[in-house]
Amino acid sequence: MIVSKIQREILKEVSLLSTLRRGLSNNVEDIFNFHGDRETLGFKDRYRVLDEKDYERFISSRSSKREPAMTRSLTSLSYKIGKQMISLAEGMPNEDIFPFSHLEIKTKSGGKIILKDKELAKALQYVPSQGLPELLAILRKFQEDLHRPPPLDRDVLVTNGSQHGIYQCVDMLVNPGDPVLTTEYTFTGFHSALRPYDPEVLTIAEDEDGLVPETLEALLSDRVSKGLKMPRILYLIPTGNNPTGTVIPLQRRKQIYELACRYDFIIIEDDPYAFLNYSDEVTPSFLSLDECGRVVRLDSVSKVVSAGLRGAWLTAPTALLRRAELHSQAELLHSCTLSQSLLLRLLSQRGELAAHLHSARSLYAARCGALGAAMGRVARDAQAHYMQPRAGLFYWLRLSGVPDVYNMVFNTALEKGLMLCPGQAFQYDTSAPSQHLRLTFSRIRPEDMEHAVDLLVDVIQTEQKLNQRERVATEG
Ligand SMILES: Cc1ncc(COP(=O)(O)O)c(C=O)c1O
Repeated sequence: MIVSKIQREILKEVSLLSTLRRGLSNNVEDIFNFHGDRETLGFKDRYRVLDEKDYERFISSRSSKREPAMTRSLTSLSYKIGKQMISLAEGMPNEDIFPFSHLEIKTKSGGKIILKDKELAKALQYVPSQGLPELLAILRKFQEDLHRPPPLDRDVLVTNGSQHGIYQCVDMLVNPGDPVLTTEYTFTGFHSALRPYDPEVLTIAEDEDGLVPETLEALLSDRVSKGLKMPRILYLIPTGNNPTGTVIPLQRRKQIYELACRYDFIIIEDDPYAFLNYSDEVTPSFLSLDECGRVVRLDSVSKVVSAGLRGAWLTAPTALLRRAELHSQAELLHSCTLSQSLLLRLLSQRGELAAHLHSARSLYAARCGALGAAMGRVARDAQAHYMQPRAGLFYWLRLSGVPDVYNMVFNTALEKGLMLCPGQAFQYDTSAPSQHLRLTFSRIRPEDMEHAVDLLVDVIQTEQKLNQRERVATEG
């Protein structure tokens, strides 16, 4: 479908793929496999499966005040009834006044998405807040096939990008001042959603395999012994953490899930890089482990299809999902129907989607390898430490001799014509010093990489010298 141009780019870069440790499977089943062997889990034998009443203790007081909008309920009802009724009820515009009659989108691989007449009118009309019913049906099947989640009363909600899902989770599960768990460095969008709630942000260190369960457990048991308020959510990015690029292996995922059951919190699994895992190992999602109803999963096509489409969905136990749906009702009525209609077409063609996802992953893997190959010099000549990202779009660097990168990013680097992202962007306290930089390899042209790395080495060395001089001056 969208494959050919990407494939041409990959051919140019294919030699760079050899820098990756493993080849990448393009088998449809492998690309769409985020589940493991369910038989071996056994969480529900040891822990309570949450019921409707249990979720009440997680719902924030703000969210618990939400009530269904009667007009939205009528819209859902009219879609559910499905047959022609005489309606004097709904506030929908008449489709005859829509000025559009035909929409055609050509894909790069020669395919076409055509929406016309009634179908186009439908794609331009109000829909239930949960989402376009046909899309919801496809998404339920998609989640079932990809994650094979343990049987439980759960459902999907179409969101306006994953950021919207993050915001909904925060609104739904956080009260002002609450303790909240996340990794030491995490996606800025989570912090932005949290800030108005003045939370106590409890950060857990990562190593090369992501969040360290033992550190999480130590923090939790310490809080219990001190009688401190316990966190009700853990937000994490299990595959290709933004910014650290880690992937949490299955064993750790199970340990973390078990801690959620023991210490009674909900896991928000934000996984927009799920399709950009550069190893062929199948790493089951938290959703696939969720026997007890403790996972809210966020999916998005932003990184692999289009960011502007805002195509994303939230999967959660139904009791939580209904709260998020009420949030959507109040906030935006529903995500854009036209986008949902395009997403429906994309997800309906699994084979083509798999081919596209494979191509996208190969392109990013090649870029990742190419930047990695050039980066040797950053480690050698500028004493920076980094790990080869296991998934996602970023290298995460820790510098030596630069106690805070802020000045370097906004003065030294800009003067030399290089834009960088400072580590501050991924810590809750953005005013605290950071020795880290995040480098994105998704859009930089392969032919610019050597030059970018030259500039980077120059910028870091300049800053190291500046810091050294300042140190000598203050010591002197
Ligand atoms: C971890 C993570 N979550 C969510 C988002 C936002 O995704 P979306 O475009 O679906 O809102 C990003 C974007 O960078 C991200 O890195």
